[in-house]
Amino acid sequence: MTASGMPSNLPPVAQLVVQDLTRAAIFLVVTINPGTAHRAAIRSFCGDLPALVRAVGFRDIEGNLSCVMGFGSDAWDRLFGQPRPAELHPFREIKAGSRHAVATPGDLLFHIRAKRMDLCFELETQIMARLGEAVAPVEEVHGFRYFDDRDLMGFVDGTENPTGQAAIDAAYVGAEDSVFAGGTYVIVQKYLHDMAGWNALSTETQERIVGRTKLSDIELDDAVKPAYAHNALAKVVVDGKEIKIIRDNMPFGRAAEKEFGTYFIGYARSPRTTEQMLENMFVGQPPGNYDRLLDFSVAKTGNLFFVPSATFLENIPDGDPVTALSDKPDIPEPQPAPKRRGSLAIGSLKGDPAS
Ligand code: HEM
Repeated sequence: MTASGMPSNLPPVAQLVVQDLTRAAIFLVVTINPGTAHRAAIRSFCGDLPALVRAVGFRDIEGNLSCVMGFGSDAWDRLFGQPRPAELHPFREIKAGSRHAVATPGDLLFHIRAKRMDLCFELETQIMARLGEAVAPVEEVHGFRYFDDRDLMGFVDGTENPTGQAAIDAAYVGAEDSVFAGGTYVIVQKYLHDMAGWNALSTETQERIVGRTKLSDIELDDAVKPAYAHNALAKVVVDGKEIKIIRDNMPFGRAAEKEFGTYFIGYARSPRTTEQMLENMFVGQPPGNYDRLLDFSVAKTGNLFFVPSATFLENIPDGDPVTALSDKPDIPEPQPAPKRRGSLAIGSLKGDPAS
């Protein structure tokens, strides 16, 4: 069985999740407005997104414009019904002491990246023009690269990301859910920092909290690294093997409003890995040994999305699962033309995720 009407004999082409860090990014989260026509508009849009990315990206081909589109758990059911990705569920909030990983609304995620913000902004404008009344915005964050890939707390962020085949293995679903091979799960959280509190700490204290040196970005020796260090708690080991995720965090802010933040984004072939990291950070490992970054950082949003393969997006079948279930369309149902296209510009899956 294949998801939607996908040809079963071709390997799926993934969305461009694994890529070099870019200088600019827009994180856009929207909800879907009720109505059969709105759901039909989104299903039809999915197949057209690669053409939009191509059109905007071609204006500066060296700008490396890309866009990843993800779907929340409820949105998946409303848009596509069955089959559904094996591990897709709503974001699980965590409460521990004063720490709270909140779950907030969000049906669709657009992660737009490029070397130039104008490319990102133009693509977002075109996406929103196409989606029109079908969606309502929830969150829009414009991220920028800060000096040598640092977060606004001053530490280099992203060093331990896997690369090459290890990144592909970490990101993409494989044989464990073959219908959705080439897809990936993504967790996003918008954090705001207490910069006054953080800057009041000595550099040495900050380094112990992060687990790396601030200027030179060298990992602290295990003999001096505390068990509560961020990079100790964010390390997930299963059966003796470290399980990695792909992060592409971005600083954002409005200095005049004293808003300084990090938009966390973590892609993984299973959401369990990122959820385990969150558990370690918020509850602690063991419980109580929590991540001190959270004394200076508050999570304002939290969502889990599934990012299907580009092949899936290109082959969305007609028909509304909600209408099919209730058999009572809320408004007359449009019949979008079946889509079948050639090559995709969203991205390509290098290597076999099932391997
Ligand atoms: C306030 C938000 C956050 C900030 C400012 C932050 C910053 C950092 C920094 C500076 C590093 C060290 C350099 C590196 O390897 O990238 C790091 C590592 C890491 N972070 Fe975060 N992070 C944040 C939230 C998160 C969250 C929510 C997760 C996962 C749920 C996470 C997962 C990781 C992982 C897996 C590593 C690499 C650990 C290793 O293998 O050494 N981070 N982070």
